[in-house]
Amino acid sequence: MIEAKNVSMKYGKNGQYALSDISFFIDRGEFAFFVGSSGAGKSTLLKLIIRELTPSTGCLKVFNRDVGRLPRQKLPYLRRNIGMVFQDFRLIESRTVYDNVAFAMMVIGSPQREIHKRVPQVLTLVGLEDKTKAKVCDLSGGEQQRVGLARALANRPALIVADEPTGNLDPGTTLDIMNLLRSINQRGTTVLVATHNREIVNLFKKRVIYLDGGRMVGDEQEGFYTHDH
Ligand SMILES: Nc1ncnc2c1ncn2[C@@H]1O[C@H](COP(=O)(O)OP(=O)(O)OP(=O)(O)O)[C@@H](O)[C@H]1O
Ligand SMILES: [Mg+2]
Repeated sequence: MIEAKNVSMKYGKNGQYALSDISFFIDRGEFAFFVGSSGAGKSTLLKLIIRELTPSTGCLKVFNRDVGRLPRQKLPYLRRNIGMVFQDFRLIESRTVYDNVAFAMMVIGSPQREIHKRVPQVLTLVGLEDKTKAKVCDLSGGEQQRVGLARALANRPALIVADEPTGNLDPGTTLDIMNLLRSINQRGTTVLVATHNREIVNLFKKRVIYLDGGRMVGDEQEGFYTHDH
């Protein structure tokens, strides 16, 4: 599903490498954490996967396509098959929960009747069926992130990419959101999560890819996030 071969990335011509010589393979259906201290390169790597950035050198394949060389007209295919979840939610706060999820389907051209059917489904999946008509700005942080998850799921993506999805949430809400991501993964969606949260990583015992100063310093199947990395 995702194959990185000697991927390096540097911002600007004279900048330092934000990522150096990264290689890994993530199979369909996996759940993987990207961990490492601030500046390690986690967000840069996720941005390469969603093609917000392109590698300076090396080859990165997502869904078997070289995303560094993907022609512009192929971008919509990639985007509709990847659901993104952000630390700061990135919702339209003045609009309803329903609208926020519906917009994600409208932009890829889904017909209204499919939107009417699908939005309640995903809102039920994240436990927000009673908040359909609420404005996002009236929701708690945890509820807002559930909307973020519902929006990411709306188009039935093969891959969910979450950059610090619980960075702004308290520990209880963090566990709720992470459990949701885990159950989404159990239904077959590949899930990638960048996080600083050692407790969650150690609780989940999923694959852990460690970055340090732009280098990959570890890759473990049932990994722990310790101070040794
Ligand atoms: N737009 C940019 N322009 C120049 N340098 C950047 C840019 N974005 C990130 N960097 C640099 O790239 C390196 C990796 O940053 P990145 O944001 O990927 O780290 P991170 O692991 O996500 O950190 P954090 O845990 O703080 O989110 C850092 O040295 C950072 O300063
Ligand atoms: Mg980051």
